[in-house]
Amino acid sequence: MCGIVGIIGSSPVASNLVDALKRLEYRGYDSAGIATIHDGHLMRRRAKGKLRFLENKLKDEPLEGLIGIGHTRWATHGKPTEVNAHPHVSEGVSVVHNGIIENFKTLRVALEKDGYVFETETDTEVIAHLIASGLKAGQSPEDAVFFTLSQLEGAFALAVIFEGHEDLMIGARRGSPFAIGYGDEDEPGMYVGSDAIALAPFTNRVAYLEDGDFVVLNGTGAKIYDQDRVEVQRKISTSMAQTLVVDKGNHRHFMMKEIHEQPDVISRTLSHYIDLASERVDFSALDLDFKSLPRLTVTACGTAFYAGLVGKYLIEKWGGLPVDVDIASEFRYREPLMAEGGAALFISQSGETADSLASLKYCKAKNQKILSIVNVSESSIARESDEVLPTLAGPEIGVASTKAFTCQLTVLAALAIHIGKSRGVIDEALEVKLVRSLVEVPRLISELLTEEKRIEEISHSLSQARDVLYLGRGTSFPIALEGALKLKEISYIHAEAYAAGELKHGPIALIDENMPVIVVAPEDELFDKTVSNMQEVAARGGKIIFISDAEAERAGCEIVDQIKMPKCHPFVAPLLLAIPVQLLAYYTAVHMGTDVDQPRNLAKSVTVE
Ligand code: G6P
Repeated sequence: MCGIVGIIGSSPVASNLVDALKRLEYRGYDSAGIATIHDGHLMRRRAKGKLRFLENKLKDEPLEGLIGIGHTRWATHGKPTEVNAHPHVSEGVSVVHNGIIENFKTLRVALEKDGYVFETETDTEVIAHLIASGLKAGQSPEDAVFFTLSQLEGAFALAVIFEGHEDLMIGARRGSPFAIGYGDEDEPGMYVGSDAIALAPFTNRVAYLEDGDFVVLNGTGAKIYDQDRVEVQRKISTSMAQTLVVDKGNHRHFMMKEIHEQPDVISRTLSHYIDLASERVDFSALDLDFKSLPRLTVTACGTAFYAGLVGKYLIEKWGGLPVDVDIASEFRYREPLMAEGGAALFISQSGETADSLASLKYCKAKNQKILSIVNVSESSIARESDEVLPTLAGPEIGVASTKAFTCQLTVLAALAIHIGKSRGVIDEALEVKLVRSLVEVPRLISELLTEEKRIEEISHSLSQARDVLYLGRGTSFPIALEGALKLKEISYIHAEAYAAGELKHGPIALIDENMPVIVVAPEDELFDKTVSNMQEVAARGGKIIFISDAEAERAGCEIVDQIKMPKCHPFVAPLLLAIPVQLLAYYTAVHMGTDVDQPRNLAKSVTVE
């Protein structure tokens, strides 16, 4: 999703702005631009498509200046064209913006009546014109921005620079994340960005604006004000982003690197929640009495939602606690009834997903205890939570989530054991057994990854398909959903997942000899039922790819291919089954030549509704 950067430096900022934008590329974007002020003049360069097109423009027409803002745009209002690319300008005011201005139409009509001519189809342009009109009316830049903010509805973050002011930048946050970086004596300067990763090359001293804040920066510092314009202090902390490696190593794509990191990051996450010596879970840092908890409400988006669905199966079956799972974009609008004394759990890799964050606020207002499973510890969701259960996956750069998903499953599985213990449904012997099964997961995933070549071969046939169906039961149903999502996201092949028992209620009509059907069927208590559904597929000519630890003969019908899984306890099966569905999607996409790490139209961190 859109990325914002801003720098007031002691040397020309253009190339640093582009470097910072490169670090935001992973969020997903379709155009980019920067603006600087030099010798009293505001100049900008913008380009449709990847950052290299902007870099080429800057080679031909460089930008000078010690102050500038930059942006990667993920189109919401208006096509991804150069004209719609940020920064937007109006009479010497230049703005970059992330988020959506919901009332932009009304504002635009009013501004047009006042004679403002709009160049773009974006919602952002109203911000530039509103600030410019304030300046024209004699307001100071601070007053003009403050007054403009009071007129905007929606969730956003923005940064503004002003022609004639080479030591002034104003930023604001309402909903979307906004970080401020503080330079030091060796490298004086001030920085703003959508996240600390963007600022990592320049500084590790970072503060975060809170909702409603706005900030006035010069080259040596920043004054932060809350929504009532009262000056406030926001803690400057040392960001870990500089120590995080964000390169592809020897891998062709971040996604492949992240798939291969799973044994390590799952181990790391496990060691946070498990005492390996005693083979017991350790949630002593979590202040929540699960014994008396009436209900747990889980809310998330995308892949994290599917992790939540797996979590529901695990926590209800092994933890004995009722769980509701909802998609965040639906949850708050149906005004759900929340149990008195209940708890709400939010799962999010980025910790910034707008719908999840808004749902969190809804639950807070309903007096729920707020828990979150997040990968970015400095994120908004983490900061708004009463209790944070971190995933230790490290930065996930590939848009299609892989290692964050399996780390979310790891935390949920460990949590299910803790809940079961607290509610008296898991005794010591069972706890040790389940913990052992979890501890085996990294080794089993490493083994599975040696089967990669075989999965690559199978994916060649998938790349010929127009549609692919995924089936599964129990925890394999959300894994089927995740597999279909992965395939759609990065290969653009239409894929759908169904609970295997639901097949006969509709999707069976789609099956013919052109339809690959991926059946996720661990040899568990539901295996025979899934096998019956698989036979219904085979009888209609569907091409079955069987993902199972069972021998092929157990399928009892013709299968085109099998991905043979290692044996494991059913409790951890979803963690292992996630791997082949990730690899199938990856190799299909590579075979088709799509942009695996930054698939079209998708964003990593979705900070709009
Ligand atoms: C986007 C990403 C998905 C992700 C979802 C939720 O759609 O492309 O990979 O699952 O957002 O993101 P979150 O950061 O909240 O887990």
